[in-house]
Amino acid sequence: MAQTVRRLCFCDKTALAPMVRVGTLPMRLLALDYGADIVYCEELIDIKMVQCTRVLNDVLETVDFVAPDDRVVFRTCQREKDHVVFQMGTADPQRALTVARLVENDVAAIDVNMGCPKEYSTKGGMGAALLSTPDKIEAILNTLVKGVSKPVTCKIRILPSLENTLDLARRIERTGVAAIAVHGRTKEERPQHPVHCDVIQAVAQAVSIPVIANGGSLDLVKSHGDIRSFREAAGASSVMLARAAMWNPSVFRSQGALSLERVMEDYIRYAVRYDNHPSNTKYCLCQMLRDRVESPLGKRLHAAQTGAEICEVFGLEDFYEESQARLLARRKALRADPCLADRLTMDGDVATMPVRFDRREYPPQITPKMHLLEWSRREKLEQPAYETVQRPLDRGFQSTVTVGDKKYRSTLWEKSKKFAEQAAAIVCLRALGVPEGRSGEPEAGLVSKRKREEKRAGESEESSNGVPDAPDSACRKRHLSKPLQEEVKG
Ligand code: FNR
Repeated sequence: MAQTVRRLCFCDKTALAPMVRVGTLPMRLLALDYGADIVYCEELIDIKMVQCTRVLNDVLETVDFVAPDDRVVFRTCQREKDHVVFQMGTADPQRALTVARLVENDVAAIDVNMGCPKEYSTKGGMGAALLSTPDKIEAILNTLVKGVSKPVTCKIRILPSLENTLDLARRIERTGVAAIAVHGRTKEERPQHPVHCDVIQAVAQAVSIPVIANGGSLDLVKSHGDIRSFREAAGASSVMLARAAMWNPSVFRSQGALSLERVMEDYIRYAVRYDNHPSNTKYCLCQMLRDRVESPLGKRLHAAQTGAEICEVFGLEDFYEESQARLLARRKALRADPCLADRLTMDGDVATMPVRFDRREYPPQITPKMHLLEWSRREKLEQPAYETVQRPLDRGFQSTVTVGDKKYRSTLWEKSKKFAEQAAAIVCLRALGVPEGRSGEPEAGLVSKRKREEKRAGESEESSNGVPDAPDSACRKRHLSKPLQEEVKG
């Protein structure tokens, strides 16, 4: 594994806490702008994340982790790469590792949430349920610390007994995590209960890794100056703010908080820029309004359904129109520029692109695999070697093709092995700038007429979804040259 810096400095830092529905990209960027050093994403459940595909969104200039139903589960961008902590909910070391590896190159650290007391989390053995299964905590954290190149952290709640809390913190420290965030309440205590600064302080004294104090929003931290007092009272390295930041993210500003109107406008600009879901934008704005949610402004916000309507409530309709026009123009430009649309990303030593093989885009007698084979022969390279894996979750296929000593793969999972291989071949051809034989593409002259005819014979052995169906396929394959036989077989 590549050696990467395993440090994430939590000393003297203030962090935007992970918050479901609040810790999405617009809020995180806003918190960074206002002075937060570290921002956490909302807790994302491992089962959901393992199904996601990493997709470069060239229109928004983001990295999206997209579920099979095309929903964006986690969106991030270059600006926050060295500051964003990816928080997951998990009760399974291997699944946690799979998710961590999926995101590790796009985030600053990986965090495991061990504090969520909600039933949806605890009934799966996640969140605060982990606090009573320390062996599982160790297994998860050990696996992550060994398996990823980025710092690993966790967020816990305190236990009813101080001794048990300190034992747990020491066990966690021994796994090699880079820091522990401690929410100074037990899982039975509610957010309005006072936070136990003395327990956080005892944890900070018991371990030598940074401890991040959390839980002070309601009565201790009302302004930027209070962040320092809370940190000192808890004897911690840094402070993590959830509700105080949700109510007014400019609490991170050392020069003092901004008016809510200004903050809401800044937030909306990011929400529109990053195509945030309107219901999420509305939720965050309502949290900022707090007791003003019943005001005329709050009522108009409540009635807004779309991004355009939300902007209108705040007098930002021109900004909305301009942003949409900019996005549309960018979308069009990208579609017209195949180089930009097909940007390569390295995943370890594998060059990747989000590419799907669409049979209809190619003439029946030609496939990308065939083009790649011919090109390799011409270049006197060994025949391309395909390696395919199938994931159990949705039985999707993903192939990696090795050509020369380089590897290529599509980040998208296909419904059959044959399609997955074709997608890998397309990635390779696009990366090499070699024509792939799409209908309408200028004739590359790579595949000779004879071979096209041979291939046509071979192609008829495949049904449209790539399943071989002709009983006499073996006989026909005998007429093909050896490499082509291999290709048709594959
Ligand atoms: C939370 N909290 C939380 N914690 C966590 O680790 N992952 C999460 O996804 C969430 N989600 C979440 C949503 C909302 C709306 C709230 C209010 C809280 C808990 C949060 O991070 C924090 O531990 C507590 O709110 C205490 O810190 P404050 O609010 O006193 O700073």
